[in-house]
Amino acid sequence: MTTKAMSLSFSLLSLLTQCNAQSLPEGHISRPIARQENSSIESIIADSPLLSLHRDLVEISSVSNNEVEVGSFLANYLEQQNFTVTFLNVSVSGNASAGQRRDVFATRDTSDSPQPKVLLTSHIDTVPPFIPYSAAHASNSTARADIRLRGRGTVDAKSCVAAQVTTAIELLDSGNVSASDLALLFVVGEENSGDGMSAFNRSELYASFNETIKGIIFGEPTEGKLATGHKGTASLFISANGTAAHSAYPELGKSAISMILPALAAVDSLDALTPEEGGLPRSAKFGNSTANPGLIEAGTAPNVVPGYASSQTSIRVAGGTPKQFEDAILARIALFAPRTFEQLNITFTYNEGPVDLVGNVTGFEGEVFNYATDIFSIRYRRDVKAYLYGPGSIHVAHGANEYVRLGDLEDSVEGYKRLVADVLGD
Ligand SMILES: *[C@@H]1O[C@H](CO)[C@@H](O)[C@H](O)[C@H]1NC(C)=O
Ligand SMILES: *[C@@H]1O[C@H](CO)[C@@H](O)[C@H](O)[C@H]1NC(C)=O
Ligand SMILES: *[C@@H]1O[C@H](CO)[C@@H](O)[C@H](O)[C@H]1NC(C)=O
Ligand SMILES: *[C@@H]1O[C@H](CO)[C@@H](O)[C@H](O)[C@H]1NC(C)=O
Ligand SMILES: *[C@@H]1O[C@H](CO)[C@@H](O)[C@H](O)[C@H]1NC(C)=O
Ligand SMILES: *[C@@H]1O[C@H](CO)[C@@H](O)[C@H](O)[C@H]1NC(C)=O
Ligand SMILES: *[C@@H]1O[C@H](CO)[C@@H](O)[C@H](O)[C@H]1NC(C)=O
Ligand SMILES: *[C@@H]1O[C@H](CO)[C@@H](O)[C@H](O)[C@H]1NC(C)=O
Ligand SMILES: *[C@@H]1O[C@H](CO)[C@@H](O)[C@H](O)[C@H]1NC(C)=O
Ligand SMILES: *[C@@H]1O[C@H](CO)[C@@H](O)[C@H](O)[C@H]1NC(C)=O
Ligand SMILES: *[C@@H]1O[C@H](CO)[C@@H](O)[C@H](O)[C@H]1NC(C)=O
Ligand SMILES: *[C@@H]1O[C@H](CO)[C@@H](O)[C@H](O)[C@H]1NC(C)=O
Repeated sequence: MTTKAMSLSFSLLSLLTQCNAQSLPEGHISRPIARQENSSIESIIADSPLLSLHRDLVEISSVSNNEVEVGSFLANYLEQQNFTVTFLNVSVSGNASAGQRRDVFATRDTSDSPQPKVLLTSHIDTVPPFIPYSAAHASNSTARADIRLRGRGTVDAKSCVAAQVTTAIELLDSGNVSASDLALLFVVGEENSGDGMSAFNRSELYASFNETIKGIIFGEPTEGKLATGHKGTASLFISANGTAAHSAYPELGKSAISMILPALAAVDSLDALTPEEGGLPRSAKFGNSTANPGLIEAGTAPNVVPGYASSQTSIRVAGGTPKQFEDAILARIALFAPRTFEQLNITFTYNEGPVDLVGNVTGFEGEVFNYATDIFSIRYRRDVKAYLYGPGSIHVAHGANEYVRLGDLEDSVEGYKRLVADVLGD
């Protein structure tokens, strides 16, 4: 799950809300793997290739821009399973000395130019901070399926990575799917920029099968439901220049905070309005568009009249046109801030509209999701079937208590198999 353009403010927020996890060690923890206190749980994990792979992936720290080690581990694992791995280099923008980050593409098709019909894809980076892996029973249950697998990335999205790898191995080993039909793609950078998926989108590798691919299955936490679509994104930047002065003589200055406050109140009031009342556009499928003024930066000290103030608002797009958004926002600000309107810098950026996905596969419950994903970073033909599915909840995904229920992780392998079958026309 990503917030794309507004990711900086979001990750700052998540850092702030997770200060109890801040003291945890950075970087990956050394082998051998950490043992679980409960030896029965330990052997449950050790006995399952899926659960062991999931644990091993989570134990390697892979905060965005630092995915080198987890990518190498995954590539090695896939090669041992007789996949041919192709790496795609993705640079760390502005840091030439950073290690070489790589997307991992894998297939058992040994031909020179594979033409998979279905691509299973997810991401190997996580939000900060690293939180080590642990496994324990939920307080109210001793059932195997209710064991909670905790740590950063257990949900978002290493559960999807481990389940997709397991799905591919089981389908290919059983002969139910042929080697030429299926490929895996695990990208870097989903949480902060989408640069890993963008690199794949631009690659010769993708160009060699972008006209023949039939389905792409994106892995993100959807609570085992099938996303029928997800909202788009837009952003709003508002700033003002005032004149700094000593607060004892405010008449000598002009407060930039006072200038932007009415505009922020205007933006903050949009969610409560229907489009007819001057609110943001909506749609029957995606519901309300929402605006979150999530970041304000202003002032230097309490006793100084602030000379500069700025704010950023993240908008979730549920319908309408870019112009409808801009018109509604500007009209509302003009209403609330008639005197300062002309002096404000108001910059509206419409990134992407809502995405439609295949959400009506038999056996799945469909639901619209509000968060944005890597789907924005790849172009595919209109007739390609795109799906979004995975175990675990987005509500714990970036938090200090991120976990996935063992039974949900295991069930997702069957879910991915049914989606592969939906593409291949089983
Ligand atoms: C350890 O796990 C087993 C099997 O799930 C369970 O029966 C047992 O109660 C657990 N012991 C503790 C101390 O949690
Ligand atoms: C990989 O392929 C070799 C040769 O065909 C085979 O012996 C081996 O069992 C395969 N390994 C896996 C994990 O599929
Ligand atoms: C990818 O990066 C590695 C390490 O920097 C380099 O050796 C390799 O040539 C690069 N591959 C491509 C295709 O640019
Ligand atoms: C650049 O990458 C190196 C090596 O990973 C790291 O030590 C350094 O902190 C990075 N610099 C910045 C500005 O992120
Ligand atoms: C345990 O509690 C969770 C909520 O934390 C609930 O969803 C689940 O159904 C409960 N399980 C049992 C077996 O009562
Ligand atoms: C392969 O397909 C058969 C028949 O539909 C099914 O019974 C079996 O479980 C499938 N195997 C795997 C690994 O999905
Ligand atoms: C496939 O890739 C080529 C080369 O990047 C591009 O010209 C073409 O438009 C792409 N086709 C689709 C359907 O994206
Ligand atoms: C959509 O906005 C209206 C106000 O116009 C509000 O009553 C309703 O609860 C909102 N719907 C959701 C799902 O938040
Ligand atoms: C207004 O804000 C945008 C976004 O930060 C910035 O690119 C632009 O230079 C600003 N314009 C003025 C006149 O300050
Ligand atoms: C605010 O001041 C900066 C620096 O003097 C200038 O670049 C910018 O255009 C000004 N912005 C507005 C909205 O007047
Ligand atoms: C799903 O929706 C598509 C497009 O509306 C339709 O063509 C297809 O038959 C539907 N599939 C099912 C299983 O309902
Ligand atoms: C993906 O690649 C195509 C070229 O094949 C390019 O036109 C497009 O802008 C790229 N990015 C996205 C998000 O579609």
